Amino acid sequence: MDLLRCEPGQTYVDGTLGGGGHAEEILKRTDPDGVVIGIEWDQKAIDEAGKRLNPYSSRARIFRENFIHLSEILKTMKIESVDGILLDLGLSSIQLEREERGFSFRGEGPLDMRMDERRDCTAANLANGLPLTELERILFEYGEERWGRRIARAIVSEREKNPIQTTVALRKIVYGAIPKRFQSRKIDPATRTFQAFRIRVNEELENLKGMLESGWKVLRKEGRMCIISFHSLEDRMVKEAFRKWEREGMMRILTKKPLTPSEEEQKKNPRAHSAKLRCAERL
Ligand SMILES: C[S@@+](CC[C@H](N)C(=O)[O-])C[C@H]1O[C@@H](n2cnc3c(N)ncnc32)[C@H](O)[C@@H]1O
Repeated sequence: MDLLRCEPGQTYVDGTLGGGGHAEEILKRTDPDGVVIGIEWDQKAIDEAGKRLNPYSSRARIFRENFIHLSEILKTMKIESVDGILLDLGLSSIQLEREERGFSFRGEGPLDMRMDERRDCTAANLANGLPLTELERILFEYGEERWGRRIARAIVSEREKNPIQTTVALRKIVYGAIPKRFQSRKIDPATRTFQAFRIRVNEELENLKGMLESGWKVLRKEGRMCIISFHSLEDRMVKEAFRKWEREGMMRILTKKPLTPSEEEQKKNPRAHSAKLRCAERL
């Protein structure tokens, strides 16, 4: 919030509104007339955020959209530039905890993983339909999974017998494919595979890339962009884009090293442990 420099009278974009926690804080800090444009593509999250932001409804504009469409949204609002953009990438706790959404390898649910349920492609469609080489690619690239080849082969061999329909089925395949002695006790062996599928289902890297290509254009001079990422692929993309902007004289990096949660914060909120926050200011 401090990096975003929230001040009354200004307009901020929360591109990943989720349950509205960040947006609420921005609205409090920009009282009485700051505006938040909240973008979120998951209807259930929007419902939560709507309740939470009800007391500020005159200053919160909520759009069910992909944040990659930020400039179009601003055009419809006849807004040329904003004072800050915040992205808090990845999943919300609400999504992770609802087993029926299929994100969690701990629970039992349909193999879905769509953050925006209007999209066509589910994780089950990918598991049952992608060619072997593409399965391998997403496991290596998006999951950084060294056992990607074995897992991809196991998926293909399983689906020839039975379609893979549930989170439990996928998890079992992963457990069977990674040799026992290489299965970590600290991190669930299915973590990387689930991450890979989720990133591909939601085209998360493409969306971030789109924002990194065009987001800075709608920032006013001295406006700030803050991005919180949760895995190295995303953080690398943010770091490289910020450096490029700085080299080209468009932005100034305010976080030479990313900010990470303190031990105390990690204890209170273990899901924050891998978070990295980077911020840059428009010149
Ligand atoms: C970590 S949560 C955000 C939590 C939020 N900051 C809060 O305070 O409650 C990330 C949210 O971003 C949404 N999201 C991820 N990618 C998106 C995209 N491309 N467009 C719109 N929303 C997206 C997810 O659906 C999820 O609800």
